[in-house]
Amino acid sequence: DHADLSDLLLSRIRDVADYPEPGVMFKDITPLLADPKAFDALTGALADVATRAGATKVVGLEARGFILGAPVALRAGLGFIPVRKAGKLPGATLSQSYDLEYGSAEIEVHAEDLGAEDRVLVVDDVLATGGTAEASLQLIRRAGAEVAGLAVLMELGFLGGRARLEPALAGAPLEAL
Ligand code: PRP
Repeated sequence: DHADLSDLLLSRIRDVADYPEPGVMFKDITPLLADPKAFDALTGALADVATRAGATKVVGLEARGFILGAPVALRAGLGFIPVRKAGKLPGATLSQSYDLEYGSAEIEVHAEDLGAEDRVLVVDDVLATGGTAEASLQLIRRAGAEVAGLAVLMELGFLGGRARLEPALAGAPLEAL
């Protein structure tokens, strides 16, 4: 059940103190990826979210969202669309920039990968401030597609990402396993 799944996943996430800078507790998912039972349980649960949400495509956010999003898309029988950091996609792109604590970042998607016929589930490992996810939802809407939801392994609730995403989600579900 859900409690067993949460326990399994939590047991495979390593807390690393003061990484990448002092005062930050980094959530390292590499032990989870190295455990086939946990990795299978995670991607299976995320694929169930995609199916329940009626998604037609899965978007993964570079880089850890690629590791999770690709198997989720395959398991749900859906196409996988990468949202990349700026400058990596060769075709015509839509770009969205967003503010970081210091400076800004920019992400892109191939414009032809999403259209009015699509309902898109965004998959990532961590929801922190919500800046990356918010920009990805804006990209999906600008591409003319519908947002089916956002599914993440974990949500760092104290950073307020869920509240920040409310307007961009516009009623679509946010699921944090
Ligand atoms: C991390 C994480 C999310 C994002 C969450 O990615 O994988 O994509 O940050 O932060 P936010 O909610 O505050 O936007 P990162 O930018 O470190 O990229 P990586 O996966 O390539 O390491």
